[in-house]
Amino acid sequence: MTDFKNRDFRGKFKESDPILEFQIPREEIQGHRGSKGLIAIFGVMMTIDSTFMQRCLDLAYNGLGATAPNPMVGAVIVHDGKIIGEGFHTGLGKHHAEVEAVNQVLDQSILPASTLYVNLEPCNHHGKTPPCTDLIFEKGIRKVVIGQYDSNQVAGGGVERLRKNGIEVITGVLEQECRFLNRRFNTFHEKKRPYLILKWAQTTDGFVDNLRIQEDQQKPSWITDEACRRLVHKWRSEEQAIMAGSATILHDNPQLNVRAWVGKNPVRIVIDRAARITGNKEQLSTGQKGDSFSPLKIVDGTAETIIYTCQENANHQNVKFIQISPIEPVWPQVLADLYNRNIQSVLIEGGPTLLSTLIEAGLFDEARVFIGPGWFGSGVKAPDFPFSPIEEEKIGNSRLLIFKAGELRSLIV
Ligand SMILES: NC(=O)c1ccc[n+]([C@@H]2O[C@H](COP(=O)([O-])OP(=O)(O)OC[C@H]3O[C@@H](n4cnc5c(N)ncnc54)[C@H](OP(=O)(O)O)[C@@H]3O)[C@@H](O)[C@H]2O)c1
Repeated sequence: MTDFKNRDFRGKFKESDPILEFQIPREEIQGHRGSKGLIAIFGVMMTIDSTFMQRCLDLAYNGLGATAPNPMVGAVIVHDGKIIGEGFHTGLGKHHAEVEAVNQVLDQSILPASTLYVNLEPCNHHGKTPPCTDLIFEKGIRKVVIGQYDSNQVAGGGVERLRKNGIEVITGVLEQECRFLNRRFNTFHEKKRPYLILKWAQTTDGFVDNLRIQEDQQKPSWITDEACRRLVHKWRSEEQAIMAGSATILHDNPQLNVRAWVGKNPVRIVIDRAARITGNKEQLSTGQKGDSFSPLKIVDGTAETIIYTCQENANHQNVKFIQISPIEPVWPQVLADLYNRNIQSVLIEGGPTLLSTLIEAGLFDEARVFIGPGWFGSGVKAPDFPFSPIEEEKIGNSRLLIFKAGELRSLIV
């Protein structure tokens, strides 16, 4: 069976394991004078700093799906070439990685002679927890190595404050990898919109569905298989929100939640300007058109749901109707609202009309496209997508193509 553990199609840092002991041989450090030294690990030449930063990234990755809207952060504390404490941010409101790492150090007296490695600039503000810069001062740590500056202006300024207080700070170690790991967080703060991942499955001859009429009872035809479905549920657990078009909701009645994986359900989002989805009695009750078509699952209240519509509609438990203007373009309104709601990433699962509007507007950061083995001959066409994948691999009975846009293409290592 395909093993999806820790798979994010994210370049080289794929594995996270719980080991604590990670020691660079003393002669490597002495021979190469600390952070400028080169060592060979798994046949790859890395600086000592980048080796420990890689450990930070591996730790940070454990927070995928749990930390948003906070970033994924890992930290290690190194004394005399040996990791003496490490940790990662496990979730919103929980300890920051630096605190976890410091708390693990048994002999706190050696902290002033140790180096803190962390993939993101230590925070410099009072949020749900105190600033990590204060912790560094309090513990007397004299040297800090970071991967990337904080793209959230509110929490930034940590490097400047540390330097002003006489602490040696090295920046930009494995910066590309650090930015790639926190691409959702960076996109959200730098572009003031969520990170957008397009996803669909198409047949070998380019169709996403057979032609079906809404009145018939036919369910959508399977294009991929169980292995692909499981991977999609894992992806859902990693993002803050999921979106599908109104026609898909009404034709397919999807649940848009996490069932074939363990994790949080994303916030469900639909654009439905004509207010065909109301959550009225008929849509909420059974007995309309057979099991798969009623009640309408998107309004069942089992997960937080947002429906953008041009009509006024009363909210139900867990289902919010947000009014948008019928004369303004949809995406600026919707993306600005999602930004204000602190939603940092959205997995957009089709249909092709919805996907095409985003593709035409250049509004996507990644696309994940399954090509199933079947041929439909005719049906609902997949969106036009004239780009080249940067990765391709076999998942179950299908091929998975991964596309990345803009800066992300060059961040792949
Ligand atoms: N194989 C797959 O991966 C897959 C996935 C999903 C769906 N499907 C299939 O796709 C079919 C449905 O797809 P579809 O293309 O007919 O419809 P759709 O994409 O599901 O629904 C159209 C969506 O596009 C929105 N839209 C229209 N114009 C827009 C604009 N200018 N800006 C922003 N949003 C806009 C609509 O909003 P309004 O309602 O406000 O107009 C609606 O939410 C079904 O057969 C389904 O089974 C296949």
